[in-house]
Amino acid sequence: MNLAEEIQKRRTFGIISHPDAGKTTLTEKLLLFGGAIKTAGAVKSNKIDRHATSDFMEIEKQRGISVATSVMGFNYKDVKINLLDTPGHQDFAEDTYRTLTAVDSVVMVIDCVKGVEIQTEKLMEVCRMRNTPVMVFINKLDREGQDPYDLLDEIEEKLNIQVHPMSWPIGMGKSFQGVYSLYEKKLLLFQASKQKLDDTDTISIENVNDPILNDLLGQSSAAKLREDVELVDGVYSDLDLNAYKNGEVAPVFFGSAVNNFGVRELLDCFINIAPPPLDRETELRQINPTENKFSGFVFKIHANMDPKHRNRIAFVRVCAGIFQRGQNYHHVRLDKNFRFSNATAFMAQSKEIIDEAFPGDIVGLYDTGNLKIGDTLSEGEKGMYKGIPSFSPEIFREVINMDAMKTKQLEKGLMQLMDEGVAQLFTYEMGSRKVVGTVGALQFEVIQHRLKHEYNATCRFAPINLYKACWISSENKKKMDEFVDSKYRHIAQDKDGKRVFMAETKAWLQMVQDNFPEINYHFTSEF
Ligand code: G4P
Repeated sequence: MNLAEEIQKRRTFGIISHPDAGKTTLTEKLLLFGGAIKTAGAVKSNKIDRHATSDFMEIEKQRGISVATSVMGFNYKDVKINLLDTPGHQDFAEDTYRTLTAVDSVVMVIDCVKGVEIQTEKLMEVCRMRNTPVMVFINKLDREGQDPYDLLDEIEEKLNIQVHPMSWPIGMGKSFQGVYSLYEKKLLLFQASKQKLDDTDTISIENVNDPILNDLLGQSSAAKLREDVELVDGVYSDLDLNAYKNGEVAPVFFGSAVNNFGVRELLDCFINIAPPPLDRETELRQINPTENKFSGFVFKIHANMDPKHRNRIAFVRVCAGIFQRGQNYHHVRLDKNFRFSNATAFMAQSKEIIDEAFPGDIVGLYDTGNLKIGDTLSEGEKGMYKGIPSFSPEIFREVINMDAMKTKQLEKGLMQLMDEGVAQLFTYEMGSRKVVGTVGALQFEVIQHRLKHEYNATCRFAPINLYKACWISSENKKKMDEFVDSKYRHIAQDKDGKRVFMAETKAWLQMVQDNFPEINYHFTSEF
């Protein structure tokens, strides 16, 4: 098979949802269809028990599980699917954002009882940054949920994306009878089953006016379905595939993941319409996956579970060419060549040494500290891949060293944890005060715990009054110098030495923005 064919048969995607909507369950069912696991219940939940958030064992467990399930590769109908897992816990949202930079599309799970929730909205904003194509699976139809029309309206309104129903539910909760696939013109009759994988209850019905529908569903449900299908057909014309691929329209499926219902239909449609690996941008140019030379970027770094050994696994998304084990590759940021002899591929629940990987694939590279998130590897070309930003954190605390004898260890530990993307470090230009910013409070506990156990350093986190860290830029050097002079007590640098303005309150930030309009204030590190 040549490179172009290998690329065409690959689909690299992530499942996103608000916690509890059914991401783990849907993942498991997809793996069952791909034959990657044999029984339901085999995928361990990657969730931290929300009632035990300060239990370190839970955090450690999470780290262990998340390596094993970070990337799940499986084959389905001749398509190689790479499913990238995203942490369920909202405090790990930054990890999720970054993983989304490595996918070509996403499936969003929405609970039909709860509708669109906060986390779903935040994740959608991230998808929008790269116009990632989104498919929606409305889950838990076996429960008494919201009206399907209301759900679709809510998705359009809150997620700011047009919807296109691919199936339509017949009843809900206790009266749930199944779904009609508008895409395949098939009726799927609901049967609660956690293990079922065949589609014996799928009945082809080209036209909903077929009288057989009355026998299958009963007069009133059949009439209601006909009415719904007529209405839906009238409102939504044919699915515009380009609009889906540009992230403007989301195809929507209804089902029940735990009952394995509607999942196969989602998967069949997904392999047909979800995009294979596409062009990606570097600082220099657009790179096409079929180019001969390998290039890719690091989107995730995972510390080894063994604290005595500092090696880590860097997850690299292959963007172009063929990655070959043992070959020398160029590390663009360090402008140095490295050889990776023990590259690993991820299949569902297992890791195996691989000799080559294609665009869309994820390879795991063992690293001793040379790689960090956002790094590009290539066959010599210098441009770094774009689109892997850091986001302004939501919670800030000042790092207080508790053991002056271990200052070096603390600094090294902090730097390495930041390379892994656990949190962001800002160092004030005046006085070198160090502030750690995170998305969730849990990270501070993780950092403290890991600094102690892996680096033998002790620190405390003191509360600090900060609203946002904004990366700053300006065309006008003089104005920038004036700004920095005037706000010098509030200027810090991020881990890459980029200048950041540490704003204490929303109102104050607004005032500063009004007073210094020549300065650009960015809420992500890439601009
Ligand atoms: P998450 O990864 O998005 O956080 O969600 P997860 O799959 O863990 O699902 C959250 C809960 O919702 C689980 O119940 C799961 O069984 C249930 N669930 C998933 N799909 C469906 C569905 O189609 N219908 C119904 N009724 N429930 C569904 P739990 O009680 O938290 O866990 P468990 O003991 O069932 O594993």
